[in-house]
Amino acid sequence: MRVIGAATLARDLGRWQPDEVRGSAGRRPGYRALADGIRLLIADGRIPLGTALPSERDLAVALELSRTTITSAYTVLREGGYLASRQGSRSTVTLPDSAAPPRPTAAPSTAVDLTCAAMSAPADRIRDAYADALRELPSYLHTAGLESLGLPVLREAVAQRYRDRGVPTTADQIMITTGAQQALVLVLALLAAPGERVLIDHPTYTNAIEAIKRTGARPIPVPLRLESKGWDLGALRSAARQTAAKLAYVVPDFHNPTGFCLDEGGRAELVRIAGDTRMTLVVDETMTDLGLDAPTPPPVARFAAGARADVVTIGSMSKAYWSGLRIGWIRADVSTVNAVLAIRSAIDLGSAVLEQVVAAELLADPDSVLPARRERLRHQRAVLVDALAEELPEWRCDPGPGGMALWVQLPEPLSTAIAATAPAHGVLLAAGPRFGLEGAFERYLRLPYAVAPDSLRSAVTGIAAAYRALGGGAGHAAELRTGVPVV
Ligand SMILES: Cc1ncc(COP(=O)(O)O)c(C=O)c1O
Repeated sequence: MRVIGAATLARDLGRWQPDEVRGSAGRRPGYRALADGIRLLIADGRIPLGTALPSERDLAVALELSRTTITSAYTVLREGGYLASRQGSRSTVTLPDSAAPPRPTAAPSTAVDLTCAAMSAPADRIRDAYADALRELPSYLHTAGLESLGLPVLREAVAQRYRDRGVPTTADQIMITTGAQQALVLVLALLAAPGERVLIDHPTYTNAIEAIKRTGARPIPVPLRLESKGWDLGALRSAARQTAAKLAYVVPDFHNPTGFCLDEGGRAELVRIAGDTRMTLVVDETMTDLGLDAPTPPPVARFAAGARADVVTIGSMSKAYWSGLRIGWIRADVSTVNAVLAIRSAIDLGSAVLEQVVAAELLADPDSVLPARRERLRHQRAVLVDALAEELPEWRCDPGPGGMALWVQLPEPLSTAIAATAPAHGVLLAAGPRFGLEGAFERYLRLPYAVAPDSLRSAVTGIAAAYRALGGGAGHAAELRTGVPVV
């Protein structure tokens, strides 16, 4: 059973209305304020479902409160359906059965689509790369065009990219895939057995959660530290120990959906944890080239050199270049690459030749694309932040140093309701719970800044209208709803 210690809970509660608890002129009694604080941590995914809370005595000591206050707070949580208690064992957190979430309303065809964090192509550069690739195509036409590991020219270009970033890599350590999504599915097919536990950042990339679930493995959430924009590696180490997970999926570079980036010290520690607990790291570098405020630290794989940790890295052309290429890759040791190859032939026989030639050409000259892409994202991020400050000043957003999206905190748990209502106001959204497990993140929305400034401004106007229509900001918003996928 996973447990949260009293000191950790006290830390995560942070400033939770201490004046009211200590008896000054607050409106809520202290035990209610405490129950609300814990309820928000549950709703935000900071305390994963199924986790045991500290004993009343330990929490009373950690918070310097009377035991009666803790007992009453736990009773409130139990009555509200946030705590399940079985005789003789610790109380574990859960979510109440909720009313069905509101049905999504139909969107006009002109709706701004913010469900997807991907940009349109750098059109001229991509067109040129395709024209060049077409000229090279005849040299491939005398072959069957089937290279299940990928075209040698592209495998070498990807290997060179790792060498440039300080990680010795040969082309035979690279398999080209149909996007990072296929790379992840292939790696999971090799490394995640049904029923096995896989640690994930919480929140994390929604389709990674789905891919893990589809293998029959069990994703285990390890909450990110949203207030300090980073990873809680202590929690990762204890989750690895407590669950005996053999695999962890992490997105350390400009993480989707938060934009956070794990620093060099954190990468070294991550690899140490993996080595100490004999856990393989699946490192998703899909967002690596999207450092907007800071350069990207060296790949996690670099810190594994000499350590006992196994690191499998996946990457992609999708975010920095163009998703339409559908080119991604796996970097691993040669035996892992060959083991994935054996699985791949049952799924597909390789990626398209022309797109691989295009990708190789683009990787040979990244400066022809990346600086302009980053500049565009910086500008769009500023537009989105300004529009939110103007129209929804009570929403909190504190961007990470890169990526393509803001992870915005709402004052009320209305994320699913807003995503369901927003289409009627001209915006398509993915609600916060899509990026977590079991209904967490009802107080968060991921807002990508991948579309043009005008679209971002009109999207925020639509989102604000949806929020106000739901009573948001008026102090009588709907009760917490558990997450059901938004269509
Ligand atoms: C973190 C992360 N991994 C993987 C993917 C999938 O990328 P691809 O288009 O290369 O399949 C995405 C796309 O959104 C992503 O954000």
